[in-house]
Amino acid sequence: MKKYQRLARQIADQIEMGVWLPGDRLPSLREQVAHSGMSFMTVSHAYQTLESQGTIVARPQSGYYVAPRPGALKRQPVSVMRDEAVDINTYIFEVLQASCRANVVPFGSAFPDPRLFPLSQLNRSLARVSKTATAVSVIDSLPPGNEALRHAIARRYAAQGINVSPDEIVVTAGALEALNLSLQAVTAPGDWVVVESPCFYGALQALERLRLKALAVPADIHEGIDLAALEEALANNPVKACWLMTNGQNPLGFTLSAEKKQQLIALLNRYGVALIEDDVYSELYAGRDKPLPARAWDSSGNTLHCSSFSKSLVAGFRIGWVAAGKHARRVQQLQLMSTLSTSSPMQLAVVDYLATRRYDSHLRRLRRTLAERKQQAYQALCRHLPPEVVVHNSSGGYFLWVELPETMDASALSEAALQHQISIAPGKMFTTSLAWHHCFRLNASWAWGEREEQAVITLARLMREGR
Ligand SMILES: Cc1ncc(COP(=O)(O)O)c(C=O)c1O
Repeated sequence: MKKYQRLARQIADQIEMGVWLPGDRLPSLREQVAHSGMSFMTVSHAYQTLESQGTIVARPQSGYYVAPRPGALKRQPVSVMRDEAVDINTYIFEVLQASCRANVVPFGSAFPDPRLFPLSQLNRSLARVSKTATAVSVIDSLPPGNEALRHAIARRYAAQGINVSPDEIVVTAGALEALNLSLQAVTAPGDWVVVESPCFYGALQALERLRLKALAVPADIHEGIDLAALEEALANNPVKACWLMTNGQNPLGFTLSAEKKQQLIALLNRYGVALIEDDVYSELYAGRDKPLPARAWDSSGNTLHCSSFSKSLVAGFRIGWVAAGKHARRVQQLQLMSTLSTSSPMQLAVVDYLATRRYDSHLRRLRRTLAERKQQAYQALCRHLPPEVVVHNSSGGYFLWVELPETMDASALSEAALQHQISIAPGKMFTTSLAWHHCFRLNASWAWGEREEQAVITLARLMREGR
């Protein structure tokens, strides 16, 4: 181990032991040089290493501080929240509309920076397939969708050791259609459905639209959904489906351990409840290996695994899918009744792009860039936001979850921020209760520059003013 690594480890251990607490100022570089007898270069290198790991943050003209401790988020009450008439769509619609305005710093957006997508290659694919007769015919795209695309998707499952037949895959307009059709396939109006608290707002919108009742089961930022609370919900209510995220959950960012995914499947199978698994962020993992979906442990056919290319390749093509198990036929029927089919040229263009075999190297680059950008955004937030604000930096994906003091309302902050052309996604969008109103989600996929830095400084000022 090099000298600077030894010093970095020593300081990290001191932080772990509580010698230095979150928000504490560390000895200056000069003081550390004097204590340790090491060179200025070595000490500076050690501090930079700790900074890049997110253990400490630099504040200009002030020095280095211990970063807010991840996991400071208070555990939410373990009780399951019941909501017989979900009524959130108007609020979500208004926030999303305001966030989409031109010139707004899009911290509230759910989509990654589109400049990270391989646009010229996709355009070439689109141009190539547009010349074919299949592109203008709807026949080959009717449910379940283009055969070559379903085979390509099945092969990506196979690469993870998961056996999914192309026959159970239905190609959809993004994951959102896959999720909505899946929910509709396994429920009838008035049924109870389990969601996480907090959860992706699309789930709440779907429940509202289909007149379903919500049971919101608490989720922890590190451990994910509370399985004991889930069992309580299943034992006490005639639940028909669970809509859950197992990898890179939106908005908290957690990924369930393999063991927990197995336990989840065993629990749902015991109660005969369908799992709608929303796995749109699975390609944006941290670490070496792509995490498996819970679906990998299900042999009952009752897991509908939904995903898309929207977060990893191209959002605007609107290509997603569901591996619907024993519900595939019902999903196809519902799709035929609603959208008829997913756009032919877009399906063909994705097939053409996948055939170039560039997808995996694009994904490696994308993951690396997103991790760097998230780290930069995290550092900036830690530098500027008041010390009582906690920034949760999960591994993977591109969202940060920011926790204000409980007396503050992130919806009010969102309104004030919009006056300054900055959007955030307030906690109210992700819940049927009041539990997360003091939190917000921040999209950290954007290249970090002066505009983003200034936006964070403005957010910090608004927080200090108590908006
Ligand atoms: C958790 C989650 N699921 C599903 C979707 C919808 O994905 P798509 O754009 O493929 O419809 C999103 C998009 O924001 C999302 O964040």
